[in-house]
Amino acid sequence: MFFSEAKEKLQTAKVICTVVNIMGLSFSDKIILAPMVRVGTLPMRLLALDYGADIVYCEELVDIKMLQCKRVVNEVLQTVDYVSPTERVVFQTCEREKGRVVFQMGTADPKRALAVAKLLENDVAAIDVNMGCPKEYSTKGGMGAALLSRPDKIEEILKTLVNGFSKPVTCKIRILPTVEETVSLVKIIEKTGVAAIAVHGRKKEERPQHPVHCDFIKAIAEAVSIPVIANGGSQEIIREFADIEAFKSTTASSSVMVARAAMWNPSIFRKEGILSIDDVICDYIRHAVNYNNHYTNTKYCLCQMLRDQLESTLGKKLHAAQSTKEICEIFGMTSFYENYTLFQEAKRKSFSFASQITLKVDDADAPQLSVKFEKKDYLPQVTPKMVLLEWCRKEKLPQPVYQTVQRSLDRFFHSVVTVNEKKYCSVLWDKSKKLAEQAAAIVCLRTLGLPEGKIGEQENDLVYKRKREMQCPNVGSGNMSEMPQSKKRYQDDDKSEESDK
Ligand SMILES: Cc1cc2nc3c(=O)[nH]c(=O)nc-3n(C[C@H](O)[C@H](O)[C@H](O)COP(=O)(O)O)c2cc1C
Repeated sequence: MFFSEAKEKLQTAKVICTVVNIMGLSFSDKIILAPMVRVGTLPMRLLALDYGADIVYCEELVDIKMLQCKRVVNEVLQTVDYVSPTERVVFQTCEREKGRVVFQMGTADPKRALAVAKLLENDVAAIDVNMGCPKEYSTKGGMGAALLSRPDKIEEILKTLVNGFSKPVTCKIRILPTVEETVSLVKIIEKTGVAAIAVHGRKKEERPQHPVHCDFIKAIAEAVSIPVIANGGSQEIIREFADIEAFKSTTASSSVMVARAAMWNPSIFRKEGILSIDDVICDYIRHAVNYNNHYTNTKYCLCQMLRDQLESTLGKKLHAAQSTKEICEIFGMTSFYENYTLFQEAKRKSFSFASQITLKVDDADAPQLSVKFEKKDYLPQVTPKMVLLEWCRKEKLPQPVYQTVQRSLDRFFHSVVTVNEKKYCSVLWDKSKKLAEQAAAIVCLRTLGLPEGKIGEQENDLVYKRKREMQCPNVGSGNMSEMPQSKKRYQDDDKSEESDK
């Protein structure tokens, strides 16, 4: 009797486990961080989870871009990174968010969408398709809000994903001109087998300042049986934690997704109440440093949090920051940065470098200095590589040749430059190929006793030429040279991030 009862209970537990596995992440009664380009990177997602969000969506990433990425396990950071051919981390995730991170995709093609989903199958909890983005870069490729007028395409994409992907599939839409049209589209979507649908209660031509149509979301929630995730309530409705529940009940939805209110202050997810932005910024920076977040992305997110303080001294300093170290200094976190950098370096050293180097460079005789390239020490349009190239041209030498290796352990780079048949390199490793090459160029210039193009250094021809271009906007580099330096730098940052989309 005892054994058969125990067997029965075990069987029931097994069935429950299987059901949970099959069904995966549930979207009922959840508070969710919305997908946000540039904002929804790993530090923000982890912070949202720390403060109480149940599910976090990543920023929208386009299928074609993801398919070019390779999956790399970073043993030092303990992350899984999807890295572009230009060695940029496009999507980064870690154990802490496993089971709660939803990957949002921009797609207009069922086959590509499924290929991306398969690539990410072991690293994310669900896949979402963006059907609400009204921006031209999305719609011109038939993605985002362009899908709203193609129910046939929506069905094709979602059915392919639901049938081919082992985890839940969701989609995020905007509302159509009428309630009836929106409800009939949502019913088509429901039939594809998606686990939930997020509804941003604005029409595609409406801007964030337009009032959110709670009545549309309510009508949708009442018309379908899958969880409806209400979205669009920031600013007008959601200003503190309690408002999330109010938005949920006004819209009769199952769950709520928050974007801008969380971007401005992610502690909106705290049941215990919102925290001061100073505390939130420190918490954010800790995650950004821990996961080697690119400083331009960290800067962007912190600017959103500072909002109306951007013109303050602090805001201006943030604008001008050119590295994670500088950002930490601005917010009084220098010792945290230094300690953590030492800790990471020690971790790196605890692995054997020799076995990690993927390509061997014969650099034993190369002059080696402990050198790093600091962008802020140079004029915006002058780099050591350019100075070295100009010098080689002037001396009628062959162009410098850079040989760069990457170690798989942490994906850091090391470059050796050959000039006039001699090799030069820094002993330090860098986060990017470009930085490693600049460091090698500096070692070469320094060893040869040549100017490096640094601000304040005796001017060489190249620096002189660039300065002239900056003083006379119509010469050479055009409009960019007219801008104040801090603004131009920030634009450069923006461009490098945007070009990743
Ligand atoms: C900076 C920013 C980036 C956004 N990026 C995305 C995105 O990648 N995918 C998406 O579906 N929606 C995106 N959105 C829209 C939001 O997810 C959300 O639908 C919208 O802001 C309304 O919600 P809210 O009132 O809570 O802000 C973005 C919004 C902002 C402010």
